Amino acid sequence: MKVLVTGGAGYVGSVSVEALLAAGHEAVVLDDLSTGHLGSLPSTVSVVRGSVGDRQGVRELLERERIDAVLHCAARSLVGESVAEPAKYYRENVAGGFALLDAMRAGGVGRLVFSSSAAVYGVPEATPIPEDAPLRPVNPYGETKRAFEAALHWYGGAYGLRSISLRYFNAAGATERSGEDHDPETHLVPNVLAAALGRHELVVFGDDYPTPDGTAIRDYIHVADLADAHLLALEATGSGEEADVYNLGSGRGFSVREVIDAAERIVGREIPRTVGPRRSGDPPILVAAAARAQDVLGWRPRRGTLEEMIGSAWAWRRAHPDGYRG
Ligand code: UFG
Repeated sequence: MKVLVTGGAGYVGSVSVEALLAAGHEAVVLDDLSTGHLGSLPSTVSVVRGSVGDRQGVRELLERERIDAVLHCAARSLVGESVAEPAKYYRENVAGGFALLDAMRAGGVGRLVFSSSAAVYGVPEATPIPEDAPLRPVNPYGETKRAFEAALHWYGGAYGLRSISLRYFNAAGATERSGEDHDPETHLVPNVLAAALGRHELVVFGDDYPTPDGTAIRDYIHVADLADAHLLALEATGSGEEADVYNLGSGRGFSVREVIDAAERIVGREIPRTVGPRRSGDPPILVAAAARAQDVLGWRPRRGTLEEMIGSAWAWRRAHPDGYRG
């Protein structure tokens, strides 16, 4: 299969490209390089610098490269920024996404896997969260993901587009080649490791949650396991439902404190931190009901321990102390 990976120079996109190539598929990357890194990709991968919002350019690319399916990872993905600048999120995640769908229709490409997010659920009524839980996003980021998912449903019925939306929980970890390098970095694991290196002042956002140790609980999933799920999802768009949706999580939660404790064991030293107030919009517990992806796609997270996730992130960070700039 020849796959166009939008946002293929980003964290999840680049690891998915790696998995596609390892499985014998071909990949072409479309990325505007606003947040992605060329260094995350092997030099043999063809990278087109551009926007998914360039309807005509994307159509020409799809036709020129004879693309079979699209893996759509390109997006703005900072929750806080989305609240401050919703226009950017609607423009790039929604309008840009719809331009991509137009280009696919015009170019005759009918298979799509979409990087969605647990952010579509907002603050859930109960955990673990099943796929049919109500979608009540609490920020524009989650809202734009929900809007695009909804379009896939209707486009499936009207135009026969076969799509799978993958609702990621908390991606973590690294492969040897690709790791997490955002600027600004808001995610827990890279911030904990940067604190271990003395490059970041770690703040635990709240220790008064209704959880056993008072810190918030999340479902962490190794980025290479996410990439495996993308492969299975791409294959599954060849048949079956027109628009399908899966949670991607391990179904197990770890608290912020458990993550820091595991990181201390891995780096072999104490990690300095302070406790601050809760971060606005953070639910106490987000854990996936993860059975559907396992039952239907046959996906199994294979690197589900904190040791594997944090250990691989630490190995990558030590090899790239300045991230991709180094
Ligand atoms: N946290 C800290 N200190 C930090 C960073 C994070 O205490 O420096 C805490 C957060 O408050 C949260 C947990 O660590 O309780 C995980 O935070 P992340 O920022 O790593 O991840 P989130 O759960 O906030 O975000 C994830 C995805 C988003 C998605 C969101 C909601 O990365 O894309 O889940 O589904 F929108």
